[in-house]
Amino acid sequence: METFQAILTRYSCRQFTDQLPSERDLAIIALAAAASPSGMNRQLWRVIIVTNPQLIADMEAEGMKNLAAFPDKSAYDRIMSRGGKLYYNAPCMIVVPIKTSNPPGGEYFDCGIVSENIAIAATGQGVNSLICGLAAFSFNGERGEEFKQRLGFPEGYEIGIAVLLGYAAEPGGKPHEPDLTKISQIK
Ligand SMILES: Cc1cc2nc3c(=O)[nH]c(=O)nc-3n(C[C@H](O)[C@H](O)[C@H](O)COP(=O)(O)O)c2cc1C
Repeated sequence: METFQAILTRYSCRQFTDQLPSERDLAIIALAAAASPSGMNRQLWRVIIVTNPQLIADMEAEGMKNLAAFPDKSAYDRIMSRGGKLYYNAPCMIVVPIKTSNPPGGEYFDCGIVSENIAIAATGQGVNSLICGLAAFSFNGERGEEFKQRLGFPEGYEIGIAVLLGYAAEPGGKPHEPDLTKISQIK
């Protein structure tokens, strides 16, 4: 698939089947992640492919528990209206931890770029995806350290983002319509 086509057809998949992408597709997608540019080429991230169903189930349960307890209920209500699953039954995710600095440097930009590279590469391989910022809720409660350990976060790394991967339970999903009024040009 051409890059431009992948960019235009990528969309957020919110219901996955239990079919795993092939090891080859996962390797290609992970390579695209590791090829991401980063400020000063610091690469203050890791690319962790997770296909362990028990680990994903544990992260799902803890994330939903923490999201339900969060004072602002808007994200929780949105997830509940979409089936009540933080990870939408995805059989696979790529977790991207980042080494944070204080004050923050460009690590959040870097990690956003990694997530988009993952999503575009996945689309190119025919794999559906969802960039999942709410994955942070699996790490911000009492089991956060446990998950960091089970996922092998290096010392000093925190959750940046996760990207869910798999195959859409219902085909035909579409991305948001690009808003061309956002574009201007000054000559
Ligand atoms: C940084 C980031 C975090 C996101 N986190 C979530 C999330 O936790 N859960 C979710 O359902 N969608 C999440 N999304 C998906 C957005 O809601 C989605 O990209 C947006 O609605 C546009 O739809 P599209 O991706 O289908 O074009 C996230 C997207 C980005 C870029």
